[in-house]
Amino acid sequence: MAIRKIARMGHPVLRRVAAAIDDPSAPEIAALARDMIETMKDANGAGLAAPQVYEPVRLVMFEAPAARAGSDDPLESCPFTILVNPEIEILGPEMAVDWEGCLSVPGLRGLVPRHTHIFYRGLDLQGRTVAREAVGFHARVVAHECDHLDGVLYPQRMRDLKDLVFETEWRHHLPQRESVPND
Ligand code: NI
Repeated sequence: MAIRKIARMGHPVLRRVAAAIDDPSAPEIAALARDMIETMKDANGAGLAAPQVYEPVRLVMFEAPAARAGSDDPLESCPFTILVNPEIEILGPEMAVDWEGCLSVPGLRGLVPRHTHIFYRGLDLQGRTVAREAVGFHARVVAHECDHLDGVLYPQRMRDLKDLVFETEWRHHLPQRESVPND
């Protein structure tokens, strides 16, 4: 296992559409996932997508712990999850804004609108289907990670770049929640 270097905004690997994975149970995918877990933990992230470690394939990992989600409702929170070839379906028109951070956009925070209610589906590393409904923080984390697979970073989702701020200033000056994870 190894901690991988994290790609930063501007690198081409973060701007392209990642390729589908043919065999989720292939040894090289398991090895990539192990490295990503170690990298995500080292960086204290709530999620990570393979392009962020320079691997342009459709694999994401994330968690929405009850403490961060503000609820232990399984719609709003979820255990650590790895998804291969994830797909998102939007379940309603409602959107909400909240602060996000990203390990590939270090030192910044932004206010990002996201759909509040989604359904997502993908495969685990054994090739079994994972399918869940998600709302709130849970939905936000999944949408953020899946955006990475399509070459989208959260600033591209923002409505007003006035709300793209340095983390240090955000901590001092802006109304906020306890913490916002880096994804
Ligand atoms: Ni991110």
